[in-house]
Amino acid sequence: MLAQRLIERKRDGGRLDAGEWRALVNAYAAGHVADYQMAAFLMACFIRGMDRAETSSLMSAMLNSGEKLDLAYLGVPRVDKHSSGGVGDKVSLVLAPLIASMGVAVPMMSGRGLGHTGGTLDKLEAIPGFRTNLSLDEARAQLESLHVVMIGQSREIAPADKKMYALRDATSTVESIPLIAASIMSKKMAEGLVGLVLDVKRGSGAFLPDLERDLELAGTMIQLGDDHGCPVTCLVTAMDRPLGRACGNALEVEESILALRGEGPADLMEVTYALGAEMLLLAGTHATREDARRDMAIQIGNGKAAECFQKIIEAQGGNPGVVDDPAVLPQADQCELYAAPRRGFVSRIEPRTVGRGVIALGGGRTKMEDTIDPTVGFVISSRPGDWVESGEPMATIFARDRAGIEAGRAALATAITVADEAEPPLPLVSHRVTKGGVEDLSSQSS
Ligand code: URA
Repeated sequence: MLAQRLIERKRDGGRLDAGEWRALVNAYAAGHVADYQMAAFLMACFIRGMDRAETSSLMSAMLNSGEKLDLAYLGVPRVDKHSSGGVGDKVSLVLAPLIASMGVAVPMMSGRGLGHTGGTLDKLEAIPGFRTNLSLDEARAQLESLHVVMIGQSREIAPADKKMYALRDATSTVESIPLIAASIMSKKMAEGLVGLVLDVKRGSGAFLPDLERDLELAGTMIQLGDDHGCPVTCLVTAMDRPLGRACGNALEVEESILALRGEGPADLMEVTYALGAEMLLLAGTHATREDARRDMAIQIGNGKAAECFQKIIEAQGGNPGVVDDPAVLPQADQCELYAAPRRGFVSRIEPRTVGRGVIALGGGRTKMEDTIDPTVGFVISSRPGDWVESGEPMATIFARDRAGIEAGRAALATAITVADEAEPPLPLVSHRVTKGGVEDLSSQSS
């Protein structure tokens, strides 16, 4: 197979058949196709697009480039949840222990912060000692004992995707619906799931801000799941403002612990319960969303969900004391209040600017090899629609030094708009998408 011929065909708007996708992906994973050739090919895919059959072939080729977990022997249903990426989105930290505490296995494989968005792995690693790089054998052993593991894409899972994803990140070919769908699903289908819930973010802080593109992404991933016998439910949720109050790794772990103790902010709990109910329905443990929500609230109220998080932390080498005392988390050297610049309504809190502000403070990466400071970030107590008086505290900035405080202040001054009128925010949970179609939920959500 000559890579040049396939690049030319894609460049000119043609398509590859399943065998050609398999051969190209395998040759790349084995080092027989150069990075520059794959980069040119991916750019051709990005610009020319891929049909459903090609997307499915790419996903299968990436999935089959590595190992798959067969977890049927656990004797319990296995489900996972994945988000398309947002700011302040710490839902996975709450959901994995919550759902696992209800007798459902959660083999959760997550990613790092990407662009302006945060990543579950970076958040977990804010917990002193926490290891996210377990081998597949370690992950299997933990799934047997705890029914839950929270790890990164191990070397054994979809290695072709890992290599292609790093290349896409460096060559501006991430934001393509077929490439994103095939990449995410190649990892999720290796987890041996009976069901998958996807949180597709919509709004200015999302990778794909438009609803139409979000629904297309959701439909593509549902189809890919269906090809592999895995039912997928997508919820479209708002990312026109940060989720919850905390943005920054250790700060988000602390907010997740509060949520597991029943003290989480209302928007975070609403998205967590909405996604969790879909997970429990797919797992088959609950027949209605109302029952699922009631039982999730019970698990939080009786401390079982927080206890499960403690067990995960301990099993993965972290200090489980953070759950009882979040002050054990690393703390920023400096913190300062950010006050309202005028009286009026909070009309916007722009998530992309907040996310970039966390990176400017040192809490995210601009290059894959950057180390991040887990302590820095923001806690934004104001919400869109709130009324504030001039000088009233709206947020706290956490930084390493004075320069960080000033960078944080500049980011919040750009991100937060106080005006005479509030813009209506997007509904928190606006659509449910399944194989059966799209349901508009906006009238049920605030
Ligand atoms: N996350 C992934 O795993 N892959 C993508 O392509 C985009 C987000």
